[in-house]
Amino acid sequence: MSDKPEKFIDENGLRLDGRQINEIRQMKIKIGVISRADGSCYLEWGNNKILVAVYGPRELHPRRLQKADSALIRYRYNMAAFSVEDRIRPGPNRRSIEISKVSREAFEPVVMTHLYPGAVIDVFAEVLQADAGTRTAAINAASIALADAGIPMKSLVSSCAVGKVDGQLVLDLNKAEDNYGDADLPVAMTQDGEITLLQMDGNLTQEEFKKALEMCKEGCRQIMEIQKEALRSKFADDQLAIEVPDEMVESIDIAVTLEDVVEEERETEVEAEASAEEITKSDAEAGSEDAEIEDAEDEYSVEDLEEADADEEILEVEEEPVDLIDEEAGNEDEKVATEGSETREQ
Ligand code: CDP
Repeated sequence: MSDKPEKFIDENGLRLDGRQINEIRQMKIKIGVISRADGSCYLEWGNNKILVAVYGPRELHPRRLQKADSALIRYRYNMAAFSVEDRIRPGPNRRSIEISKVSREAFEPVVMTHLYPGAVIDVFAEVLQADAGTRTAAINAASIALADAGIPMKSLVSSCAVGKVDGQLVLDLNKAEDNYGDADLPVAMTQDGEITLLQMDGNLTQEEFKKALEMCKEGCRQIMEIQKEALRSKFADDQLAIEVPDEMVESIDIAVTLEDVVEEERETEVEAEASAEEITKSDAEAGSEDAEIEDAEDEYSVEDLEEADADEEILEVEEEPVDLIDEEAGNEDEKVATEGSETREQ
């Protein structure tokens, strides 16, 4: 372990790593890094490197551990043997058991466990490289991994710590500040500022405690923005990367064909409308009855005309017999008259 620095904050108000007292470390997030897990997140925060995998909700075995009205959250915080300068002995220890417990409790108020009675949600947080603030970093990563797993939550959880060095409160402690500082206050909170984790090492006055909480709140607000942005971009990437299955491509083809047909029909309708419009327009322009008659005649077929001619012939034919009959009748009359006269004459 490196020696205690003489000063943590220089004359310009900057810390050993060049940060302002209320500045958080750089954070990098990658989501969905473990394909087998339901949700996962790799997070770098300063020199911390954390990998979180979430499994579930899935049926809890053994069954006697199941909760009848809700899901059980299991949270395992583990430091890799190579994550710190001195090798960490594999397996749980007092520290990792404590961190696992408080981290699980940080999520219990937000995860909607009542939706999955009898189930378990497993969160595995592996610290690959540690540099102070690993529990807060793991909580930030776990929050994203739970969201990635699609587990309903009332809010994301964001976490950071405030400490005290050189008599000043500083946000998001680095290793030297954590190891040699006068206080360490890790906090986790929801979007609404509801505190779901609060621990404290060292001593703070009441005033300092209040101010430290305010600093944590601002730090968590910034972290939540980063978390949300990471999730948003993951979503956008997923949408771009969606592979369209073959059967869908077929149905897309069919849809295109149908669309063509519909489009063709629409075009025909439009053309018909246009020609109807033209007719109306030319009628209006002509504005005379003659034109209307001409137009109307134009609409007659050859058969109509032939029929009309035939009708005329019939009329002519019908007229003739009337004349003939009349004439004949007249002749008859004449005949009768002649006969009569003849008879009278006789
Ligand atoms: O990591 P966090 O601040 O949440 O927990 P901590 O117990 O305050 O540990 C602070 C830092 O001490 C860790 O982040 C590690 O860098 C270091 N540490 C270590 O070197 N060896 C351990 N067995 C435990 C912690």
